[in-house]
Amino acid sequence: MEKPFSEACERNKDPILQVLQKVILPTDERLLEVGSGTGQHAEYLSPKFPRLEWYPTDKNLIHLKDISGRMIQKAQRLDVAKDDFPKLRFDLVFTANTLHIMHWKDCKSFIKLLGHRLREGSRAVFYGPFKYNGEFTSASNAEFDQSLKERDPLSGIRAFEDVNANMVKQGFELVEDYEMPANNRCLVYVRLKFEAKR
Ligand SMILES: C[S@@+](CC[C@H](N)C(=O)[O-])C[C@H]1O[C@@H](n2cnc3c(N)ncnc32)[C@H](O)[C@@H]1O
Repeated sequence: MEKPFSEACERNKDPILQVLQKVILPTDERLLEVGSGTGQHAEYLSPKFPRLEWYPTDKNLIHLKDISGRMIQKAQRLDVAKDDFPKLRFDLVFTANTLHIMHWKDCKSFIKLLGHRLREGSRAVFYGPFKYNGEFTSASNAEFDQSLKERDPLSGIRAFEDVNANMVKQGFELVEDYEMPANNRCLVYVRLKFEAKR
């Protein structure tokens, strides 16, 4: 059977690698990937960090089978709108192109879970398109947002300010907002010493 394949993943995997090389520390042991999709990021990026255990997850079981088919270990079903993370300590959570697919209430559940499960010094990395001050960063992102909403009116490109406010409420600080190719961003947060309110 032909493997599912994302062209976008092939284009963005090296720029994402460059960010992760700055964010991942030699002492980090475990990374949880949320919404791994086809598994291409896990497959390409995880061998670049051989000391790190990479946990690919997705809410969609069909995608998970695909990841397993690519022999990435420990692929698990995880819907951040209703499930908890695996009962392990994660140094990083990485997610690419998921916040504009999830409904906003599910994005908020995901962020609450990050606040609940990540500990001081752990990092969360969000790759994808964002709006700033109510504006899309390009005409193509405005068109993309429109096409997302035609498929699912509750999906759409998220406002950086909304994501950031929810992250701050959960005890995170934005440490970098990298400009990425094709009008995408990579937001890097670190968990401060803080007890999040659930
Ligand atoms: C556009 S795809 C991105 C896949 C991959 N990360 C990439 O960059 O190509 C969005 C993924 O998010 C997953 N997803 C959507 N809602 C989710 C949720 N509530 N919990 C976990 N994964 C979710 C979908 O199943 C899908 O695989």
